[in-house]
Amino acid sequence: MNIAVRYCSKFGRTQAIAEEMADELGVKAMSISQEPVLVQHVDVLFLGGAPYWSIMDPALEEYVNRLRPDMVDRVVLFTTSNWSHRTVIGLRTKLEKRGITVAPGHFYAHMSMIDKSKPAARAYAREELNKAIELERSADEGCRINIDKIKELATEVASVLAVTAIVVGGAVIARRVIKLRR
Ligand SMILES: Cc1cc2nc3c(=O)[nH]c(=O)nc-3n(C[C@H](O)[C@H](O)[C@H](O)COP(=O)(O)O)c2cc1C
Repeated sequence: MNIAVRYCSKFGRTQAIAEEMADELGVKAMSISQEPVLVQHVDVLFLGGAPYWSIMDPALEEYVNRLRPDMVDRVVLFTTSNWSHRTVIGLRTKLEKRGITVAPGHFYAHMSMIDKSKPAARAYAREELNKAIELERSADEGCRINIDKIKELATEVASVLAVTAIVVGGAVIARRVIKLRR
């Protein structure tokens, strides 16, 4: 699985959560200012930001507007704030409008509880990764079942064609034999 953790953080709190998640997932968290667009396709993008005066940072909005749906299979959201969950609600709406799948729910840490929230952030990231792996596995399984069904159908069609050829061939030979006898 290709995983990326990206965040938008002015004062370091969302960054701290992003880094904790990234460490759990074995990747490096990156600020959207360091990498303003995804440079390669990812299976799961962990994306976080915070509200400032009730709105998300315009840079985060811009990031989502630029995010190409073919570059990401699934987005997992996280946020830190004093009370508001508006940033992730806004992110979800924007992403879903653009046809990008967003995992249900999000991770939230209160701004005064960042350190205490770190173990929960790790657990959330691990859980979301496992869910994404499971979803991919069942999609592969569904695909494999379809291929098996197609193979089965092809075998049946081939047998019907073979029987038809034998019957038609037999009829043609029989007609010729009858003609020859006359
Ligand atoms: C200027 C400013 C405005 C803020 N406005 C809100 C707000 O409207 N709602 C809220 O819940 N928290 C608000 N906060 C709290 C931040 O969202 C919170 O501290 C968050 O953890 C900051 O994330 P960061 O450290 O990653 O930048 C505000 C903080 C600042 C400094």
